[in-house]
Amino acid sequence: MSYETILTETPAPGVGLIRLNRPQALNALNSQMSGEIFTAMQAFDSDPGVKCIVLTGSDKAFAAGADIKEMEATDAVTMMTGHDFTDWARMTRIRKPIIGAVSGWALGGGCEMAMMCDMLVASETAKFGQPEITIGIMPGAGGTQRLTRAVGKALAMEVMLANRHLTAQEALHYGLVNRVYPVESYLSETIKLAEKIATMPGVAIQLIKDAVNRAYELSLSEGLTYEKRNFYLLFGTEDKAEGMKAFVDKRKAEWKDR
Ligand code: CAA
Repeated sequence: MSYETILTETPAPGVGLIRLNRPQALNALNSQMSGEIFTAMQAFDSDPGVKCIVLTGSDKAFAAGADIKEMEATDAVTMMTGHDFTDWARMTRIRKPIIGAVSGWALGGGCEMAMMCDMLVASETAKFGQPEITIGIMPGAGGTQRLTRAVGKALAMEVMLANRHLTAQEALHYGLVNRVYPVESYLSETIKLAEKIATMPGVAIQLIKDAVNRAYELSLSEGLTYEKRNFYLLFGTEDKAEGMKAFVDKRKAEWKDR
């Protein structure tokens, strides 16, 4: 598959990398780019050679938001019925873990897309923000919900109402990101983390991701029931049999991802 606004590669065993590539617009997310990102994610999701996906931008900008030049001529009805924002939920249906590697600007839709990742690694220069109010609108791809869950109501209000940016260290403090590294190494460290995950059994990877994400949707008792279902399901896999036998035999397990 060839793309015009993103680059894809497999930089390490089991790792699929998607790089946003509109440097002239600080990776502003237009319809074409959003479509290509989700298509590439789905391609990696169904590729048995990939077990973990990394989503990154450039050192200067993960993404400076939805493309304002594209949205300028768009009215409410078009946004509601025909714009790609209605389609961003495609990312939440990816079964394999997605790690965002964020450097520089992660603003508006860029911040929202980062927060849709399962884990985030930031460079020391990363800046997270939801500046939509400065152009007369508001976050529309999850910002009011995901940022509020991550940093709490008071700070989320300040970020969205007063256009306050969060630094990488602040994002780390609030648990929005997993780790912070110098700009020279954040991407290689993210790939290493993805490679480590890719050494784990594939079905367990997906069912853990699935159950953790349910924690945001379900009550505790519903979530615990959901977790049990995934837990029992893993007892039917070849990897469960291999993993436990390898432990007893004191050898390294060889995963089949089934
Ligand atoms: N959409 C379209 N183009 C953008 C863009 C965006 N979101 N962000 C930056 N660009 C373009 C600029 O127009 C400029 O292009 P030209 O050279 O053709 O003029 C180029 O990228 C470089 O940008 P700047 O010259 O502005 O770079 P800077 O370093 O001076 O400033 C910045 C960087 C602070 C990120 C600034 O570009 C900026 O404020 N961008 C807009 C941020 C924003 O408001 N994002 C929210 C968008 S709305 C949204 O995302 C809705 C939603 O919830 C889904």
